[in-house]
Amino acid sequence: MKISVINGPNLNMLGIREPGIYGNTNYNTLCEMIKAHCADKGVEVTLYQSNHEGCLVDEIQNGYGEVDGIVINPGAYTHTSIAILDAVKAVGIPTVEVHISEVDKREDFRQISYIRLAAKKTISGHGIMGYIEAIDYLIENYGEGK
Ligand code: DQA
Repeated sequence: MKISVINGPNLNMLGIREPGIYGNTNYNTLCEMIKAHCADKGVEVTLYQSNHEGCLVDEIQNGYGEVDGIVINPGAYTHTSIAILDAVKAVGIPTVEVHISEVDKREDFRQISYIRLAAKKTISGHGIMGYIEAIDYLIENYGEGK
């Protein structure tokens, strides 16, 4: 099984940006944690981060025919991007939406999620462990609906 983990804008600033909301763990440590977990589960993983909407669309499309699941935290594009929603719909790859913070309890504008319309599951407010939960969900549901 292959999983693609995609992070959107400002997630490369983890550990620096608003630690009261996003915690003290930096992006590299998050990547190492994800790699170790996937190795443990016998799953191949690719990690990608970009601050640019079109690059995130490209990376979702790159997964077509290549990966069995996507874990994505689109950052602020969650609340604005129909292009990212359409990319996930286009590739038809089971996708889990992750947010480190509890977006539903924050500002009104964060309560709109376009990608949620195409996601199999949304994990929000569980900190960086949300990525691990998302990976485990994809592993548990691998092959469903095939
Ligand atoms: C976020 C929540 C978004 O509203 C915000 O723009 C982010 C991170 C989260 O992980 O909690 O960049 O997706």
